[in-house]
Amino acid sequence: MIKELEFGRCPLSNINVISPTAISHHAITKHIFMKTLIVLLITVSGISFFSFQKKTFDLKSSVARGKEVYVAYCISCHMEQGEGIEEVYPPLAKSDYLMADKKRSIQQVLYGVKGEMKVNGKMYNSEMSGFDLSDQEVSDVLNYIRNSFGNKGAAVTPEEVKANRK
Ligand code: HEC
Repeated sequence: MIKELEFGRCPLSNINVISPTAISHHAITKHIFMKTLIVLLITVSGISFFSFQKKTFDLKSSVARGKEVYVAYCISCHMEQGEGIEEVYPPLAKSDYLMADKKRSIQQVLYGVKGEMKVNGKMYNSEMSGFDLSDQEVSDVLNYIRNSFGNKGAAVTPEEVKANRK
């Protein structure tokens, strides 16, 4: 049986559709459904992309910023390659002491440290005063020293620094 012809206007594409009544309605409904589905998929993937980005910490940028903090506040004692000065300033390069305890180093940068410590088999007994730096600056400088001079360590986030403030 031949079906009646009808003009239909697709509300989204704004084109006229000429087709048998039954097919026309079906096609338009399907078309709207597919478009809605695509828009929905793009929105959902967009949202999940941005929330994923928020969760992953950008260690590379933090290390780059940390170098500037290091040059401004730390280099005078711990030296350019983190080698320190033997028997006076302990090394950060491949420092077993530094890499052993993330929380301890956060607190040492914030509040300083005094007394005996053994770094790479050598004893130091001196004092370092704390630094008036922001959570991000502390996280950046620690990410720099923990990922330079032959060191490789997990990221320190500003949230972790905040949590370790007294
Ligand atoms: C005025 C010199 C001086 C400056 C500047 C300085 N430090 Fe220190 N740092 C020391 C001394 C001295 C010690 C050892 C303290 C002790 O013997 O108790 C030390 C120890 C450390 C340690 C632990 C030991 C190690 O080698 O792993 C870390 C980590 C550290 N400093 C990081 C930093 C960072 C980061 C900065 C810059 C924000 C900085 N220091 C700036 C003198 C300094």
